[in-house]
Amino acid sequence: AAAATEKKPINVAVTGAAGAIGYALLMRIASGDMLGPNQPVNLQLIETEPGMKPLSGVTMELADCAFPLLRSVQSTTDLEAGFGDAGLAILVGARPRSKGMERGDLLTANASIFAAQGAALNAAAARDVSVLVVGNPANTNALVASANAPDLSPAQFMAMTRLDQSRAAAAVAAKTGAHVRDVERVVIWGNHSATQYPDLTHATVRGQPALKAIGDDAWVKKTFIPDVQKRGAAIIDARGASSAASAASAAVDHMRDLVVGAGDAWLSMGIPSDGSYGVEEGLWYSVPVTCAGKGVYQRVGGLPKPDDFSASMMDATRKELLSERDGVRHLLPKAAGGKG
Ligand code: NAD
Ligand code: LMR
Repeated sequence: AAAATEKKPINVAVTGAAGAIGYALLMRIASGDMLGPNQPVNLQLIETEPGMKPLSGVTMELADCAFPLLRSVQSTTDLEAGFGDAGLAILVGARPRSKGMERGDLLTANASIFAAQGAALNAAAARDVSVLVVGNPANTNALVASANAPDLSPAQFMAMTRLDQSRAAAAVAAKTGAHVRDVERVVIWGNHSATQYPDLTHATVRGQPALKAIGDDAWVKKTFIPDVQKRGAAIIDARGASSAASAASAAVDHMRDLVVGAGDAWLSMGIPSDGSYGVEEGLWYSVPVTCAGKGVYQRVGGLPKPDDFSASMMDATRKELLSERDGVRHLLPKAAGGKG
């Protein structure tokens, strides 16, 4: 009887599966945290050649967890095999910055990885695949992947800024003595980087305007905003490695809301610009959206014109994204603003 009512498994592809985020993420997906307690999953794990041995240890642990919802686990270095019929793809694997590497070198090294992954998703993934890019520089990697996947809609590619949103909400909760679940409508604009703009203009705490509940403009501008912008660096400094469990948790939250739906909650994600707020089309810029479920999201529209402070913050992060795009032009087809 159980088999008759069982849902069809969802194929979830994860790149960089043997890394630190992968280790936390796979357990959460396989346990049902991401897609719910009645949704079986197939894991399709993609690694580099040197990553295959550590990945085999992770898959031994996945087996040893005896997760009731985990139907199958595939490990591969072959992109088209790994992305085959994937309904969800979480692109975590990326080249970390090594000693003496300039920012531009990192951009280019990662852009070529994401160009190949975009092409493989285009060739092999389910036509309605939702792709979440976690690996940095996440927004520009999403742009590159999408530009190399002409048969998929750019809207299917999202860069993760959910961790920034959760960091911002947690900071507001701590400041106001509220619980984080009572903090709503925090918005992350722009890039997942130190230029991002965590915006409290629309935020509420227990339903009241957050800026009023905080009542301290200097704290917002001099403490809150820079702390959220630099939270990733603070964790690297303290832990000696970049955030991993919290990044995995944000990916779980993002995909759950996208697939299951999140009512009228505002969620931030880096998505292709539609030209609003002076952000040119073709940049992956974080904005607030709502999620109706089944992979569908919609931008929050009808917001009042940003005040001068917000407008200048939103413009600074836009400019950084433009310069990142300039750094990877050679990997973009002409139609996506590249050199062809
Ligand atoms: P990690 O170095 O522990 O793991 C990365 C894994 O990716 C490694 O196992 C590596 O073998 C693999 N990999 C590298 N290139 C690959 C490729 N071409 N195909 C498949 N696998 C590949 O790093 P991590 O801590 O797991 O972080 C991964 C990425 O996520 C980094 O770029 C990091 O900066 C980024 N990150 C993003 C956010 C966010 O909020 N968007 C937060 C934290 C970290
Ligand atoms: C984070 O936000 O924790 C990471 O993106 C930081 C990093 O540079 O890996």
